[in-house]
Formats: sequence, structure tokens, C-alpha cells
Amino acid sequence: MWGSTSEGHLVVANSNKRLRLSVIGTGYLGATHAAAMSSLGFEVVGIDLDKEKISLLSQGRVPFFEPGLDQLLSDEIATGRLTFTDDFAAASECDVHFICVGTPQAKNSLAADMTFVNGALAAIAPVAKSGSLIVGKSTVPVGTAARLAEELASINAGAELAWNPEFLREGFAVEDTLRPNRLVVGVTSDRAEEILREVYADLLALDIPWIRADLPTAELVKVAANSFLATKISFINAMAEICEAADGDVTVLAKAIGFDPRIGNRFLQAGIGFGGGCLPKDIRAFMARADELGARQALEFLREIDSINLRARTRMIELVRADLGDDLKGRKIAILGAAFKPESDDVRDSPALDIAVQLHGAGADVRIHDPKATENAKRRFPALDFTTDLGECLKGSELILHLTEWREYREIDPSAIAHLVAKKNIIDGRNALDRAKWIKAGWHLRALGVAPVLKAIG
Ligand code: UDX
Repeated sequence: MWGSTSEGHLVVANSNKRLRLSVIGTGYLGATHAAAMSSLGFEVVGIDLDKEKISLLSQGRVPFFEPGLDQLLSDEIATGRLTFTDDFAAASECDVHFICVGTPQAKNSLAADMTFVNGALAAIAPVAKSGSLIVGKSTVPVGTAARLAEELASINAGAELAWNPEFLREGFAVEDTLRPNRLVVGVTSDRAEEILREVYADLLALDIPWIRADLPTAELVKVAANSFLATKISFINAMAEICEAADGDVTVLAKAIGFDPRIGNRFLQAGIGFGGGCLPKDIRAFMARADELGARQALEFLREIDSINLRARTRMIELVRADLGDDLKGRKIAILGAAFKPESDDVRDSPALDIAVQLHGAGADVRIHDPKATENAKRRFPALDFTTDLGECLKGSELILHLTEWREYREIDPSAIAHLVAKKNIIDGRNALDRAKWIKAGWHLRALGVAPVLKAIG
């Protein structure tokens, strides 16, 4: 059933929501946010300059792999509430505009590249109607919101700016958007907070914590959270280095310290470290911003967090050399995983792919398997050999490296694949395989952060 508002806009009859929303930028964050807001009953227009993306999204097709998003998107397109366009004029009647564009690492520095955020503000500011709220969700250097608010005031004094950082994880984007563990809003007026409370009313009804902050604090919450997570991972990877040197086992150590509720057991998975489009570039941009603010020393520790993280990749290569010898030319290595983490086809700053590239560079005959990310990986590194056929990847290999912990790798029956390989030899770079199972099946298994001679546990 269709109806129309006094302004003549089509609305779905079962939509009980007053506000109309625009979402600028339709990557992981924006596409998910647009579909999720539509599922809450809002009329939403998603805007992106990439015509190909817009065409796919309009057909209900997600241009990347994100579990559950395909279904949500096509369901919402079918309701008529959710549309996509490359024309900013479509946002002119919207009440709230979410800026969800990327802030990648700049080409020549640690800082964030603000081109897309600046472009989004410049495009939406002149068309935003009076009284509308422009809400940044992108991860930005602290101070950006205040600067954009000033710019907005000079272009369109009737609109207001707020910041509402997003904490979604790839692979859980839908769940994290519709059931976030907190909502943080940086506002400069009660009115802005009221509008955002109306947007998130259904989530507030679920008792999701609501935190009102000023603009800089809201911006900082995001980078502080990601810095903490990165620190936790690098902490356990530093312990992994010590365990290797002292004949210990980092997985047992992580389990033992994780029982202390002040520490907690999440994000203590030692291995080849963190990658992706967020953690690495966010801690670097945070350091760059602290420098500008004259507070360099406060974040000096993040430099070490970054180094420990990158060192985990080098340690993996060293383990390979310890196994196959220094000269890797022509040595057959099967690599399990190209994505930066499971349940994602994202290969941005992927530790797995970085290791594969380095081994390839050293002359090894590398074949890489990934259930979802081979196309993205091939686009980045066309010279590498990718396959979606696990058997094909393993065939004739002298060494397997387990680098992204997809479920299908954990479910491999080590006896069933033994006939495919030249040598029953594997290194677990994610500490996610069932060691006892592999060792019992006669495999030589090593893992990062574990004494070289593995004691089968369990
Ligand atoms: C992260 C934050 O979790 C999220 O809140 C923010 O909005 C965006 O950045 P994401 O990049 O999707 O999300 O991935 P995340 O699940 O945090 O993992 C990041 C990296 O850390 C992955 O490469 C993962 O393999 C690695 N990791 C994670 C570990 O090496 N060990 C762990 O214990 C956990």
C-alpha cells in the first residue's frame, strides 16, 4: 500500500516513521546502515558517486561479502522504503543525513585521507533542508567535526552537524548495526540529541546504552576503542614472542589470564596479527593527529603496537624459513586464507596476503586458497596464484600455512587430505586448529607463540 505525504512524497503505508534519512557512502558501513535504518521503518536514500555500486545496490545486490546483508538489502528494496542514487539532490527532503564514507590511510603519511569526508560535506551542505541534521559516522581525526560544523555554518546556516561513531565489525555488520553494544552521539544541542534519539528509538527500547558526548569526545571514542583492541591483540602477540623464546604456550597463557574478568578472554587470539580497513590505519591516524595536537608522547606506545603487529608477519616468514631452509625458491607452499579475517572478503592490509606476497617475492611457489576473497586478492596481486578449490591449493605442497581462520579450515580432516600433500607439514598462524587432531593424524604442526617442539595438548 502506498500513500503520499503533504509534500507529495511516496511513503510506504506501514512505515510509522516520520523522519526521512539519507546515507552518503555505500561501503560496508553505509550500505549496512542504509538497509538497517530502512528495516527500522524509515524511508532511506543511499547516495554514492560510484554508479556501478548504485546499480548493484538498487537491484538488491551487495557489492561485497557480508553475511546477512544480501537478504536484508533485497527485503528492504522490496518494501520501497530503500532507494539508491548518485544524485545528491535526492537528499534535499531528508531530515537526517549520515556521512558514511571511508577515511583510508593517506598515500604519503600515517594520517587519514579526508578527501571523501570533505567531499561528502561539500556535496550535502548546499542541498540539506533547513532544520536537517548532518551526522558523521566515518572514523575521523579528532577536531574534524568542529571544522565541518564551521564549514557547514558558512554554507547552510539552517542545518546542524553531529557525530555518531560506528563500531561495526565486518562479518557482523548487520548484527552490530541493529544490536550495537552502545550508541554514542556527539552533539552541540538538545535538539540534535532528540533527533538522534528518534532515529534510534527502536534500539533504545532494547536498553542499548546511550552516551551523549561533545563532538571531540565522540570522535575520540572510536579511535580509542580501536586502539585498545589493537593493543590487546599486540599484547598477546608480544606474549607469543616471549613464549616462543621461553618454551611456553601463548594459547594456554591467554586462556589463563582471560579468566580474570578485568582482562577478559576476547581479542586475545595470538597469531599473525590484525589487519583490515580499520585497526591498522586508525591507530596510525590517531598517532598522526596526536602529533599535530602536541600530544605525541601520549600515543608513542601505539608505534610499538604497530611494530609488534607487523613483526608477527615477519615471525611467520622466519618460521617458514626455519622449516624449509633459507632458500625458498620453488618451494611449494599452500596458504589457507587471503581475507584479513574470516567471514569477510576484505583483503585490505590482510596479514595473510602480506605473508603470501613476501613468500612469493622470496621465490616460493605459493598457492592461496580463500572461500570468499580470491577475487579481491587477485585484483590487488594479479601475479599470485589463487584458487577456490582447497584440494587444488594443497596438491603437492611441502608446507601448509593456516593464515585466516575460516571455519572450513578448522573442519578439515587431516587424515583425508594427507594424500594430497608432498609433506604432512603445517604451521597454524592463527592458533585456531585442533592441534591434537593434526598431531594424532601424523602431521608435523607448529604454531606462532608456541614452543618449537609442540606438545600435543588435550
Ligand atoms: C574493527 C573493530 O572491531 C570495530 O569495532 C570497528 O568498527 C572497525 O574495526 P574489523 O576491522 O571488522 O572491526 O575486525 P576485527 O574483528 O576487530 O578484527 C581486526 C583484526 O584483528 C583481524 O585481522 C583479526 O584477525 C585480528 N584479531 C582479532 C586477532 O589477530 N586476534 C584477536 O584476538 C582478534
